[in-house]
Amino acid sequence: MEETLHQLRTQALGDLDAAQDEQAVEAVRVKYLGRTGSISVLSEGMKSLSKEEKPRIGKLLNEVRTQVTEAIDGRKRALEEARDAASFADLDTSLPGVQPWRGGLHPMTSLLDRAVQIFRRMGFSLADGPDIETEWHCFDALNTPADHPARNEQDTFYLPDGRLLRTQTSTIQIRTMESQPPPVRIIGPGAAYRRDEIDATHLAQFTQMEGLCVDEGVTLADLKGTVEFFFRELLGDAAQVRFRPHFFPFTEPSFEIDIKAPALGDRWLELAGCGMVDPAVFDAINSRRGDHAYDPEKVSGWAFGFGLERLAMIISAVPDIRYFVENDLRSLEQFR
Ligand code: DAH
Repeated sequence: MEETLHQLRTQALGDLDAAQDEQAVEAVRVKYLGRTGSISVLSEGMKSLSKEEKPRIGKLLNEVRTQVTEAIDGRKRALEEARDAASFADLDTSLPGVQPWRGGLHPMTSLLDRAVQIFRRMGFSLADGPDIETEWHCFDALNTPADHPARNEQDTFYLPDGRLLRTQTSTIQIRTMESQPPPVRIIGPGAAYRRDEIDATHLAQFTQMEGLCVDEGVTLADLKGTVEFFFRELLGDAAQVRFRPHFFPFTEPSFEIDIKAPALGDRWLELAGCGMVDPAVFDAINSRRGDHAYDPEKVSGWAFGFGLERLAMIISAVPDIRYFVENDLRSLEQFR
């Protein structure tokens, strides 16, 4: 038996030397150490040995098994390393690496996120309304009857059933007051649609953000303070806000808001409309609600509407509004 063990060892190591790949090495392992391999079978024979022989042969058997196992493992590792080295042979590790592609927020999305955050801190909540609206919500309730010239300026897309794509997010004011009594403090960002020729500063679909605050004792000073705070938070402390008298059917008095800030190139920019909610709007809401929740003698309110693309264009130095919607990665990738 001793003799056989020595032979098996020599044979196994010889076979291993001849094995040229991992498969061949595995075959050697099965041949000698597998369940029916020669070394394993031999160890079964240990039982029939005499008491004196057992320790000596047992020790030798263990030695042979360990030696062959280690030789097999070593050979396997050497072959694996050779294979890895071969696969790197053509690789020039001095070449620059490949940057993983990193996505980013669209400039309109990040502006909107920041705007919402600032108003939330002032206690405003988010309100919403449908893009497909009734004429009543888009115009009549906003004190803009069918023969009002403002309807021409805001020509839009009509559906066969008479509904339309809202021309302004001011519809969200109406939707909110219809469904809840004062006090109201909301902002309502969303899409607005107009039948406009598309060019570098116009899209047929654009984004507005509406604001509405109604409560007892709300004044123009609250509107000015809120708007000024918003723009200073957004554009820095050096931002200046100017209110210019204007006309909107649903506010009285009405203003346009101009902003000047280093971040915007230090010229006055017309960015929003605003004013004190016209009592005619409250009257329309009350008759729709069937109550007097918005009694113009008791509550007052202010509203504003910002055009967000205009602001995003200036903040992100985008020269053409169409870049926001063209999905051209060459322009969008600059905002990661
Ligand atoms: N809806 C107006 C527009 O699209 C903007 C506007 C002006 C909204 C005055 C208001 C407001 O809420 O009070 O031109």
